[in-house]
Amino acid sequence: MGPTLALSILIIVKLRIRLRSLLRPVVRYLAFFHYNTYYHEGDGKLTLGHRVGQCNVLFNTASGDITVGDYTIFGYNTMILTGRHFFDGGKRVSLKDIDLTQAVLKEHLGWGGGPEEVPPRGFDINIGRSCFIASGAIITGGVTLGHGVLVCANAVVTKDVPDYAIVAGIPAKTIGSTMSDENPDTRLRA
Ligand SMILES: CC(C)(COP(=O)(O)OP(=O)(O)OC[C@H]1O[C@@H](n2cnc3c(N)ncnc32)[C@H](O)[C@@H]1OP(=O)(O)O)[C@@H](O)C(=O)NCCC(=O)NCCS
Repeated sequence: MGPTLALSILIIVKLRIRLRSLLRPVVRYLAFFHYNTYYHEGDGKLTLGHRVGQCNVLFNTASGDITVGDYTIFGYNTMILTGRHFFDGGKRVSLKDIDLTQAVLKEHLGWGGGPEEVPPRGFDINIGRSCFIASGAIITGGVTLGHGVLVCANAVVTKDVPDYAIVAGIPAKTIGSTMSDENPDTRLRA
């Protein structure tokens, strides 16, 4: 290896190290908002507001649109699930004409969706501005959350939530308010 080549490699290595240290804070900043988020796409559309903080949310738009307001943030392992599977006569709709007692069903048993079973629309989820959806929480299809809502960890939200409510449990119930006049220590919470 000639001296010119060796010098070039040295310069490139040094530059890469310098670039890496310069880029690291930028990557960390972006990663805070887009870290390991998953998308199960369908006909639905995902619309995220300004500065929506995602850890590793799963956005499922199989059966509707998802809209998230500005400055709303999500904890770890949160799931926003519009997707539905309809049943008919005790079976998933896409299997309704199939005799499930037959042994050979391989040609029929794919993942089994399709629009007759998974409705492409009708279960939109709307989340307001400045909410905190804490870790492990699930929001099911057709639900609207107001602004300033706090969803506690592991809650399963199956009904609309008014502005400034704190909801917890399965199914989630209102347990408080994020309005500071009702909770003086709200700043610590939401
Ligand atoms: C199962 C599911 C589809 C039920 O929807 P539904 O039949 O329309 O039921 P509703 O939302 O009308 O709820 C009926 C009742 O069950 C309760 N309920 C619904 N889901 C519940 C849950 N996961 N845990 C506890 N209770 C639940 C509701 O609060 C409601 O209670 P109420 O009668 O006291 O008011 C929905 O709750 C769900 O789990 N969605 C997520 C689906 C999913 O995993 N999608 C991704 C893969 S495609």
